[in-house]
Amino acid sequence: MHLLNTIDMSREQLDQLIESALRFKSGDNGSKPLLGKSVALVFFNPSLRTRASMQVGIYELGGNAVVLEPGGTSWTLEHREGAVMDADKAEHVAEFVRVLERYCVAIGVRTFAALKDWQEERTDPVLNAFARYASVPIINLESAMYHPCQSLADMLTIREKLGVGKKRVVLTWAWHPKPPPMAVPNSFALAAAQMGHDLVIAHPQGYELDEELMETSRQIAAGAGGSLEITNDIDAAFSGAEVIYAKSWGAKQFYGNTEQDVATRAQYRGKWIVDEEKMSRTNNAIFMHCLPVRRNVIVTDGVIDSPASVVIDEAENRLHVQKAIMAAKIK
Ligand code: CP
Repeated sequence: MHLLNTIDMSREQLDQLIESALRFKSGDNGSKPLLGKSVALVFFNPSLRTRASMQVGIYELGGNAVVLEPGGTSWTLEHREGAVMDADKAEHVAEFVRVLERYCVAIGVRTFAALKDWQEERTDPVLNAFARYASVPIINLESAMYHPCQSLADMLTIREKLGVGKKRVVLTWAWHPKPPPMAVPNSFALAAAQMGHDLVIAHPQGYELDEELMETSRQIAAGAGGSLEITNDIDAAFSGAEVIYAKSWGAKQFYGNTEQDVATRAQYRGKWIVDEEKMSRTNNAIFMHCLPVRRNVIVTDGVIDSPASVVIDEAENRLHVQKAIMAAKIK
């Protein structure tokens, strides 16, 4: 019922969603499946693409979006079971969800990692609290661990730009002044594996993604005719790449110690960046990033403004994929 990540989706289900997204992109809004229905969008964190594309998508499917920001335009929310709510949280997710689903046919949730406690955050506690109490579909709009709407739009973009079939896809860590969450790289790696691409993940030592998810992705990739390789050598990774996907993320070992991560990553400034020289060693690769992106930090102006850059098409595809997800999940 829910869309929390893509891990349990078959290749056939992924292909169906991508094909449905392509139909929406061609201008076919079908029978407006959300006509007369409302969808709640709960944002604990900022957003441009996710919020705007969900609101527009719901409208184009005939529905109405109800946007809520806990702690801002709605009450602060507690998600822990059995919590004694004598501090700053005014409402429990149990009531929030059970009330909201009397008005709305689905609930989208954005809840980022706090980068404080890796072992806890990797279990997606807030998103899973919504899923536990809900009897309507919960759509993950980026949690601590996953961003499935982004990764599905990414897979659609690769297919549109390079065709069906496996590609040499490089997911590269990049320097960023602060440690960002790892939902996007986790989801991208998983989806690329599910689509059977030859995936190379490049990052400095100490910036490993979730080991359990990487092992799962490695097995999925092998089963789908692809592969997963992990390297600490950014220069070798770019050779022959057909897709360069850049993203920074925080080190698990420094969750709860941002200063240590900032100090450690400083040595990678100017080296772990996507620039013209690295792109020249690829196999005419397209450049991808989920956005927002810090120019001349993650990627040079010369690359993001070049014909190789597909970041705006990638952002547009969020709209079409999310319409496909809502049409499939909301009955
Ligand atoms: N890529 C993405 O999710 O963008 P926003 O954070 O702006 O929604």
